[in-house]
Amino acid sequence: MLRVKVPASTANLGPGFDTLGMALSLYNYVEMEETGTQGELIIEVQGEGAASIAVDEKNVTWQAAQAVFQVTGCYPTGLHIRLHNEIPAARGLGSSAAARVGGLIAANYLVGEPLVREQLLALAVGLEGHPDNAAPALMGGLVAASFTERGLLYRRLEVPAGLQVIVAIPSYELSTQEAVRALPAMIPLRDAVFNLGQACLLITGFLTQDWPLIGQAMEDRIHQPYRAPLIPGLEEALKAARAAGALGAALSGAGPTVLALAIEEEGPDQGNFKHQAQLKKIGEAMREAFYRSGVASTVRILSPCAEGAKLELSS
Ligand code: HSE
Repeated sequence: MLRVKVPASTANLGPGFDTLGMALSLYNYVEMEETGTQGELIIEVQGEGAASIAVDEKNVTWQAAQAVFQVTGCYPTGLHIRLHNEIPAARGLGSSAAARVGGLIAANYLVGEPLVREQLLALAVGLEGHPDNAAPALMGGLVAASFTERGLLYRRLEVPAGLQVIVAIPSYELSTQEAVRALPAMIPLRDAVFNLGQACLLITGFLTQDWPLIGQAMEDRIHQPYRAPLIPGLEEALKAARAAGALGAALSGAGPTVLALAIEEEGPDQGNFKHQAQLKKIGEAMREAFYRSGVASTVRILSPCAEGAKLELSS
């Protein structure tokens, strides 16, 4: 059975609503094979979301595979999909983008790879409706993207070494649709200008490895304030992460996960040990802040992931 490994992703990174996303070191695996029986569909799910993910035509990996079959006109004879998920579902860590990207790549391979990555990206972004999870899931690294009249304009950046990501993942799910419905149709010009400044400075911070600048340029005024009522403890967790020494913190994608960034200082092992303690302290501060708001959460320490979705063929 062919297998695709797809990274999680964090979208927005604070000010980059629907435009910035970064791949993370947490993975979903999509396996796919032809069954040989016309019309047969078998979907199995293990791991995160196993109890709630659809195992029929509503499954987003199956829908992504169908998109490939329809575009190419090549259809397998029956389909068996097996999902092994490490990315928590509906928490703002790009689980649906990973499921879709995995489905696209696996299906494309199954029918002889007629589509190139650019075409798979266009399909993934079309299915997602926004590029900031799909693009890093497919390409890895940090991706800036914008819809233009000529299509999707995007660039991928390497994330500087040493950057680490601490996430506090609340125990409840928040659907992206619900988090999108919380947004207003229009925002004040001054808030748009504020976010433009922050997003430009954030990318400048990444390009010049200016860590303090990254920390100061993760503020947002166009989605987080409107989503805060849906996410008890959000403001408190953001503040707690910064107070505990994070460079900066933001809502991960549409939430409810909160993400904090920290930088590993160069130095001997002792420094590294101190760094691990610092990461744990930031995570614990976020977890406690959520807890004080009545929300249980799990903390994970992750790294940015340079590699995008990858086909793994077993012999
Ligand atoms: N940019 C999207 C949003 C990400 O914030 O709604 C959804 O995962």
